[in-house]
Amino acid sequence: MHLKHLSLQNFRNYKRTSFNFSENTTLVVGPNTAGKSNLIEAIFFMARGGSFRIDKDEQLVKFGEEVARIKGKLGDKDLEVLIAKEGVGGRITPFKKYLVNGVNKRKVDFVGNFFAVLFAPNDLEIIVGSPGERRGFINNILIQTDRDYRLAMTFYEKGLRMRNALLHRAQETGARSEKEFAYWDNLLIVQGQKITKKREEFIDYLRISRKEILNFEIFYDKSIISKDRLLQYKDAEVGAGVTLVGPHRDDLIIRIYPNKINANESESVDIRYFGSRGQQRLAVLQLKILELAYVEKTTGERPVLLLDDIFSELDEKHISLVLDQTLQRLGYGGQAIITTTHREFVGKELLKDLNVIELKK
Ligand SMILES: Nc1ncnc2c1ncn2[C@@H]1O[C@H](COP(=O)(O)OP(=O)(O)OP(=O)(O)O)[C@@H](O)[C@H]1O
Ligand SMILES: [Mg+2]
Repeated sequence: MHLKHLSLQNFRNYKRTSFNFSENTTLVVGPNTAGKSNLIEAIFFMARGGSFRIDKDEQLVKFGEEVARIKGKLGDKDLEVLIAKEGVGGRITPFKKYLVNGVNKRKVDFVGNFFAVLFAPNDLEIIVGSPGERRGFINNILIQTDRDYRLAMTFYEKGLRMRNALLHRAQETGARSEKEFAYWDNLLIVQGQKITKKREEFIDYLRISRKEILNFEIFYDKSIISKDRLLQYKDAEVGAGVTLVGPHRDDLIIRIYPNKINANESESVDIRYFGSRGQQRLAVLQLKILELAYVEKTTGERPVLLLDDIFSELDEKHISLVLDQTLQRLGYGGQAIITTTHREFVGKELLKDLNVIELKK
């Protein structure tokens, strides 16, 4: 599977532009604001069914326009996404359409046709940021690879919104209407437990896999949802006005061994608080390598590797580590699309094998 051709219409800064990609590695070179991250965002959108940067997808529509379009040509499939602002076609809310070979699909059936692993400087947030960043890391993977997970997440998120609205009302009126809660409690428990189980399996994979770049321990800090737990938090939830247990409160803990020389004897410490910036960066790279392997193992397809501008943040040693690990050691026979502001960041040796696209300001 590889992305041969992409065309963008009214997507972010792109009015109407198309790109051809090599089935190996393409280097996209352009100055700041040329549209590098936007291009990567559009490609990732086809894998994830949404943006990795924002929640409101209608923000992707070019300023002053109504409808954005992403069209991707794979070997045997045409994918298309249409993102419309509110008011388009007389509709009062923004909407999206997903098409495979010209046929309308539900989002859960559109996702799963194309796989991508994204690596951007902001991924450091997986290590140092809030729990939401770590849940986002897990979701970006499982949503692509597992249809049941996608479905469970869709139902769970909707159920959570409804239940939180009920709790908000209970907070204002001081009374819970038990009948209304019963339905949503049950939905959240059933879907939430599916999500927990799938996250557990994925984190187990990360835990037992060999980690050659940086060894770490990884734990699933899960927020279990069950009848008992909901009962236990009943009063607190009315006070808070939101649901206090469930996978929307999950986290990951990553611990490293500070004393590298004597790894067996040293106690592990939380990388978030005690890791150096360099160790935190290596941990992200290690997670991304495991992510590539996981997607390939579970889907049987080699995902497209997207590296957005990682060179400006890394020193030379890290750049060659990334390139070695992803493109060379993994024998990345797959497709990679890499953006950079300066082509000199990429070694001469590698540059001669690359297909280069220049973006103008
Ligand atoms: N909805 C939109 N409509 C039009 N332009 C937009 C929209 N959203 C973002 N832009 C603009 O697109 C331009 C390119 O952004 P992008 O993030 O792709 O740049 P970049 O090439 O990655 O730059 P950098 O090297 O600084 O990361 C920016 O000037 C941004 O303001
Ligand atoms: Mg950028």
